[in-house]
Amino acid sequence: MSPALGVPYGAIADGVIAARAGRILHVGPRAGAPAFAAAEIIDCEGRWITPGLIDCHTHLVHGGDRAHEFELRLEGATYEEIARAGGGILSTVKATRAASEDALFASAGRRLAALTAEGVTTVEIKSGYGLEQEAELKQLRVARRLGRERPVTVRTSFLGAHAVPPEYQGRSGDYAALVAGPMLDAVVAEGLADAVDAFCEGIAFSPEETRQVFEAARARGLAIKLHAEQLSNLHGAALAAEMGALSADHLEYLDEAGVVAMARAGTVAVVLPGAFYFLRETKVPPIDLMRRHGVAIALATDANPGSSPLTSPLLVLNMACTLFRMTPEEALAGLTRNAASALGLQDETGTLEAGKSCDLAIWEIERPAELSYRIGFNPLHTRIWNGQ
Ligand code: NIG
Ligand code: FE
Repeated sequence: MSPALGVPYGAIADGVIAARAGRILHVGPRAGAPAFAAAEIIDCEGRWITPGLIDCHTHLVHGGDRAHEFELRLEGATYEEIARAGGGILSTVKATRAASEDALFASAGRRLAALTAEGVTTVEIKSGYGLEQEAELKQLRVARRLGRERPVTVRTSFLGAHAVPPEYQGRSGDYAALVAGPMLDAVVAEGLADAVDAFCEGIAFSPEETRQVFEAARARGLAIKLHAEQLSNLHGAALAAEMGALSADHLEYLDEAGVVAMARAGTVAVVLPGAFYFLRETKVPPIDLMRRHGVAIALATDANPGSSPLTSPLLVLNMACTLFRMTPEEALAGLTRNAASALGLQDETGTLEAGKSCDLAIWEIERPAELSYRIGFNPLHTRIWNGQ
């Protein structure tokens, strides 16, 4: 599959891919392909090859779990009530602060293995469960180490502005200033983040606090992304777009003005059907407005212990179709091409094109819609990351 051929999925029947030193050299039909002196030829025997999947929004590194809150929610408590009562994100903060780097590496590594087993070759990992300098740095170091020691590309986002920590209750502005100042400086000094993210919401940070964090990020040359319009409409997506964000994520409560702002700025909409499903949200993100205004739509697991304990990108494809009425072709673009754009990696991966990293997923399927159609079945045959 390669883009812009004017056929569904950009599919090439009977195609060849040539690669060298981890890079794609050529993609096209076998008939008429240039002759390459190949050290190794892999016959895919008629299987489908797609770009390696990209999970562009995860919180993979964290301590503990929130199974008990799941039980409370089944008894009627809401996500916001639990958060306001000191549970929610803050209970994961406690567990993450208490965990050693090795323990976090081991538990995140198991979740990462679930992603790669379904064809993921690039993953974004956020901090945001430390909420104090050392613990945030610890999370990001673990994410970087996963990128060094596992066969997958890892991009990191500093999400210090995920929740107001207990030490700053009632003083969110003071904490936002800390995030935008000394904490961000420490993150930058160690080169631990590729982007800065924030949670703009009634239970988290105001648009003004979000702007402050983003201005600090931009001043230090970091990309920005935002958790926006997940539970209410604070017009965070428009703010993020106007500040040049790579993506705004969640977006159930996004309005048309927000969609227009994103379209104008080229900000990618990352929709997260796992969180929608798990929180039993009923308001669907405005997918049709995004289509009409030409906003690129990406998908991700949002793998996290509270709102989306999901580590199956294939299930994300299915949920995007069943819950958000996306087409299987849109869904696959959401986990490949548009997910790459959401990370600023559109020149690096996400499509099968000469010059990009040779990140491939080879599937035992008859047609690509099978990837989003099946539930709980993994047809991955082989995953190739960086030519390996
Ligand atoms: O993406 N929205 C905020 N952050 C996470 C939830 C984190 C949690 O509940 O632990 C999310 O849904
Ligand atoms: Fe998230």
